[in-house]
Amino acid sequence: MSDGFSLSDAVSNSNNPAPCAPPAQGWPAWGNQPGAPGAFPGYPGAPGAYPAAPGAYPGAPGAYPGAPGGYPGAPGAYPAAPGAYPGGPAGPGAYPGAPGAPGAFPGAPAAPGPFPAPGQPPSVPFELPLQAGLVPRLLITITGTVNPNPDRFSLDFKRGDDVAFHFNPRFNEDHRKVIVCNSKFQNNWGKEERNAPRFPFEAGKPFKLQILCETDHFKVAANDAHLLQYNFREKKLNEITKLCIAGDITLTSVVPSMV
Ligand code: GAL
Repeated sequence: MSDGFSLSDAVSNSNNPAPCAPPAQGWPAWGNQPGAPGAFPGYPGAPGAYPAAPGAYPGAPGAYPGAPGGYPGAPGAYPAAPGAYPGGPAGPGAYPGAPGAPGAFPGAPAAPGPFPAPGQPPSVPFELPLQAGLVPRLLITITGTVNPNPDRFSLDFKRGDDVAFHFNPRFNEDHRKVIVCNSKFQNNWGKEERNAPRFPFEAGKPFKLQILCETDHFKVAANDAHLLQYNFREKKLNEITKLCIAGDITLTSVVPSMV
């Protein structure tokens, strides 16, 4: 335990009767979860710690049994996430739900498309299919390293060709570092949000990003500390079925989970 303010607090705050009320101290490190299994409610394997069972995905057909914290149809860790991330898969070798993943069905063909072989890091650009679309409590944890001499990288949560959420750190925009968030509808970018209070990425350095889908916004944490919030402009969450990751980073893991 670090600061007594956990991701689950952030989640349950979002459900309180005054959803617009800001938390008393901002969002200190909601992404900062200790490694100890069980310390985090909802961590797979934490027995009964959270009333809503981790991995539960309301109405989801074809949830993959055996995918701890599993998001239906989503591949598991690419490869295994380093360390124990809350809501993440079990660890090394976890590869639940990847179509044709070795071992899933005897004789099944190898995983097609963007799925790297188990044990291989995902290459950039990378596309994570989100079969059931977004849903509140879906947490996507991305680890990687910023390339040398970076210009920019981006995460794009897409509904068809529209971009519901564009998260775009720029390392040198007129000699400044800035994070630009936006949405794109019918090929038109909307109004940019440039209010991140800091720029947590550095050339050559590893990073961890957590994107938590809540009921009416995304929360983004970087390196275990809350960074920003982005209100949904696209409301059809279930049609946001792709996460595209591109730009000047090298990925280590991309892990969807339910918290
Ligand atoms: C544009 C840029 C796009 C995207 C957009 C966000 O200037 O070409 O890639 O980042 O800004 O508003």
